[in-house]
Parts: sequence; structure tokens; C-alpha cells
Amino acid sequence: MLFSGMGKETGAGGAPKQKNAASSGVILAALLVISAVTASSCDTPTSECPKHALLPIVPDEATFDAKRWGPTLQEVNARMVSYGASEYPGLNRSAYGPGLGPLDSPLRTDAFLRSCAGDRVRPEALNRLRSAMSCSRCHDGENQPRLDYPTFLRTLPAGGTLVSRYVVTYRKMPPGADLSDDEREALIACLDDEYYRGFGGQPGLLSAWLAQPDCAAAAR
Ligand code: HEC
Repeated sequence: MLFSGMGKETGAGGAPKQKNAASSGVILAALLVISAVTASSCDTPTSECPKHALLPIVPDEATFDAKRWGPTLQEVNARMVSYGASEYPGLNRSAYGPGLGPLDSPLRTDAFLRSCAGDRVRPEALNRLRSAMSCSRCHDGENQPRLDYPTFLRTLPAGGTLVSRYVVTYRKMPPGADLSDDEREALIACLDDEYYRGFGGQPGLLSAWLAQPDCAAAAR
């Protein structure tokens, strides 16, 4: 697996500089230590729950030896941020379908928002809900991985999806959003409706993508 930004720091001829060889060792050691104390995206990492980007490590403060490992943690997190989204050589990620929460969507009318949010969102907060739905502002496949079906939207063995965990359970996404628990549940319901079910006779984003003439022709 490759990360955009990875390898930029290699010396002439692609040989890693001395400093990098040393810090890779540090990173490996730190990952071994820290993966035991954090489960940032999956409660049980299994093949059902793959990691597709390097997430910052957030160790358990109660057991983390900050004096010994703090600087290493900072170095590792800074390095991981510089890598950006992951890519698999030879795999065309656009074949995974559209991402959840595009910047704009023809479906996102007031009538649609009232219907998917129900009484969980006050009418005057509908605009806030609408703007919280544009996850692909960051999850654009460049800076952060796209939230497509195979990677983030499959139901996890313990129930829910990675997306519902990050939005409702962990309250981490969208970053810094001031949303109540009800509004977070409405956000998931609206993102799901927009992606799968559609509204007012318009298909959901995934159905529309699957129904493209090009896709149908390619499948034949
Ligand atoms: C302002 C930028 C930004 C927006 C907007 C945003 N995200 Fe994120 N997202 C991030 C960053 C940065 C990370 C990785 C770091 C982290 O976990 O805090 C992330 C991580 C995630 C992850 C975990 C990824 C993994 O590899 O396990 C999920 C799931 C997620 N976001 C879902 C969403 C959803 C759903 C929305 C919209 C409701 C959203 N995000 C909006 C920046 C954003």
C-alpha cells in the first residue's frame, strides 16, 4: 500500500537518507507499542474492518508513558499526516463508486432534509445539517480517503458502520461540528438516504452511479 507523500524524503537515487532509516525503526517500535492501546477506527480490527489511511495515534492517557514515548508519538503522528490518503497500485478506486457526502447534491433540498431528519433537527438548524453533509470537503480521495461503500459503509460485525461510529459514537466527525446526539443521528440518516434511497423520484447517489449507461455496458 502506498500513501501520497510517502517517499518524498528519499535521497538521490531513491536511497533512504540515514535519518529516515532510523525514524522508520522508531515508527515501527511506536506502532507496536501504541496499537495495543488505541483502536481509533475499529473495535476489532478484522478483514471486515480494514484500515485505509494512517490515523493519528491517540494513546490511553492513563497507561501511556508520555515522558518516554511522547516525542516519538509526535514524530510519528506528524509523519503520518504528511502521507495523506492511501492508494493501492493497480486498483482503480473510482470503481468503488461515489463517495458519501459530496460537496453539492441535487437531492439536498429543504423538503428532503425535513423528511430524513424528522423531528430530530429543529427547522432553523436544517442549514447546519446541510453543510455538515459535505464530508467530501475533506474526504476527497486526496487529503482524506473517499467514504465509498467497500471501505467505510459496510456494516461492521458489531453493528453500525465506520461512518456511524465516527459521527455518532465517537462524535469526531465532522471535525469541530457543534451537533447534538439527535442531530448526529439525523446526519447519518440523511447521508444514507442521499446515498442509497434518493428522494422525490430522484435515485440515490449509488443507484444513479450503478445505473450509468457506461457501467451497464462494461458489466455485459
Ligand atoms: C474538515 C475536514 C473533514 C471533514 C469535513 C470530515 N472529515 Fe472525516 N476525517 C478527517 C480527518 C483529518 C480524519 C483522520 C483523522 C481522525 O481520525 O481524526 C478523518 C477520519 C474519518 C473517518 C475514519 C477514517 C479511517 O480511516 O478509519 C471516518 C469514518 C470519517 N472521517 C467520516 C466522516 C464523515 C461521515 C464526515 C461527514 C459527516 C466527515 N468525516 C467529515 C477530516 C474530515
